[in-house]
Amino acid sequence: MEERANGVNSGGESTGADDLVWIDACLTDDLPAGEMRALESDPPVAVYNVEGEFFSTADTCTHMKSSLNEGYLDGDQVECALHMATFCVRSGKATSLPATLPLRTFDTRVAGNQLQVSVPRAWVSEG
Ligand code: FES
Repeated sequence: MEERANGVNSGGESTGADDLVWIDACLTDDLPAGEMRALESDPPVAVYNVEGEFFSTADTCTHMKSSLNEGYLDGDQVECALHMATFCVRSGKATSLPATLPLRTFDTRVAGNQLQVSVPRAWVSEG
């Protein structure tokens, strides 16, 4: 497994179409229920623990590009700290204005004690 300077580990296992790859996000114990964090991919991806279920979306608000990780997670709704738009982290759907466009969502899985997210390989490639 390749150790990356930005803290993202790439397992190198392709998920098929769209050249997605599973990456290590964090230890599941490091993301308790009701918490979220952003990965240092480019662009950044956010992971969420909603009552023991893990979800992942783009971290960048579709309104004016604030980091959602700086906002608040309430149930399965993440609220942007800048103008208070909300999104459903399950579907990515914008659920309140001023955002109208959805967030991209990503598959998650738990491997041992590691939370993993399937993201485009180019977002975590060396360069
Ligand atoms: S930047 Fe997120 S609501 Fe405006």
